[in-house]
Amino acid sequence: MNIIVTGCAGFIGSHLLERLLAQPDVRVTGWDLDDRRIIPLLDHPRLTFRQASYTEPAALAWLEQDVAQADWLVHLGAVCQPARYNTEPLLTIHANFLDSVPIVEMASRHGVPLLFTSTSEVYGRTLGSYAPAGQVLAPHQTLLDAATTPMLLGPIQHQRWTYACAKQLTERLIYAHHHDRGLPFAIVRPFNFFGPRMDYLPGLEGEGTPRVLPMFVSAVLRGEPMQLVDGGHARRTITSIHDAIDALMAIIERPQAFLNHFYNIGNPANEVSMRELAEQLRLAFARMTGEARFLDHPIEEVSGGAFYGPGYEDCDRRIMDITQEQARLAWFPQHSLQALLDEVVDYYWARFGDSSRRAATEDVRA
Ligand code: UGA
Repeated sequence: MNIIVTGCAGFIGSHLLERLLAQPDVRVTGWDLDDRRIIPLLDHPRLTFRQASYTEPAALAWLEQDVAQADWLVHLGAVCQPARYNTEPLLTIHANFLDSVPIVEMASRHGVPLLFTSTSEVYGRTLGSYAPAGQVLAPHQTLLDAATTPMLLGPIQHQRWTYACAKQLTERLIYAHHHDRGLPFAIVRPFNFFGPRMDYLPGLEGEGTPRVLPMFVSAVLRGEPMQLVDGGHARRTITSIHDAIDALMAIIERPQAFLNHFYNIGNPANEVSMRELAEQLRLAFARMTGEARFLDHPIEEVSGGAFYGPGYEDCDRRIMDITQEQARLAWFPQHSLQALLDEVVDYYWARFGDSSRRAATEDVRA
């Protein structure tokens, strides 16, 4: 099998690459600008790495030559950082819609199956979030289902939704190509995938505001308070990257069975509020390091406007129905929230534990 992967060195891409190359019959041509996460794989005899942007015309012509020979085009390339959706809306729309248009079109021209990682955010807010306070909610008001749930995004001025809207339009473009020209596709909607190599830890591996778990992990390691946006009431289903990759591999390995469907990929057993996530992370740090100081690591509240700037609005809840995915893919997420957090703490403690200990000792001396 010959597979093209855009964004192959991102968080999802690096884990997918590892698993694809572990299969004896798979060749991968991977595209990315940054190779940091895949350095151990760069010499692999069945990997061709193209360190280039696929947005320039010359590079697109090159990519099309790859795609013409491919059994799959896996399009992961994206900008996925809520802090940038309302502050860099043009970049968000380009990276998540306009730059995908030529990629969808080339898959369609060559009839090559396209696997697109969209986002759980396409659903926006739940129907239940608009119900009067105190009303008992029916399942369809909260459970996100790929076949029936409407997608509820806020007004244009709330630029948080540029990302969801751009991803949704890419999904609609793919579906239109499928309808009009027979493009084979699989659309995956990730529900908060986390694990080793996630995003980057601000202040330790880069600067900026990544997604919530790297924010919290970095804060704990640096001895700063974890910041809970708007009280930490928003709820997410936290999914292990390993379970996520199992689902992607199931689709890639048996395209004849799994094409032309939408997949909610997440673990509903791991639903938590962001406050609970911060509390669980404190326990995981104490458990994995044996250091009781983490049990009362400070948590502080901050408003969405102060944290993200104007135009931020939040998804209230992302709990999904995965019965279709489980039946179709014979896929069952295995990793509990505790197992996921233990793995994350273990991974980052091995890298930054010494500096965390030094900072804690200096604090005590001061
Ligand atoms: C993001 C992307 O926008 C989605 O497209 C993507 O599918 C999703 O991550 C994902 O991980 O799958 P979101 O879950 O809103 O969506 O992003 P996070 O930055 O991880 O925020 C989750 C919640 O934590 C939000 O309520 C946010 O306000 C809160 N948060 C974030 C904090 O309380 N503190 C922080 O330091 C950061």
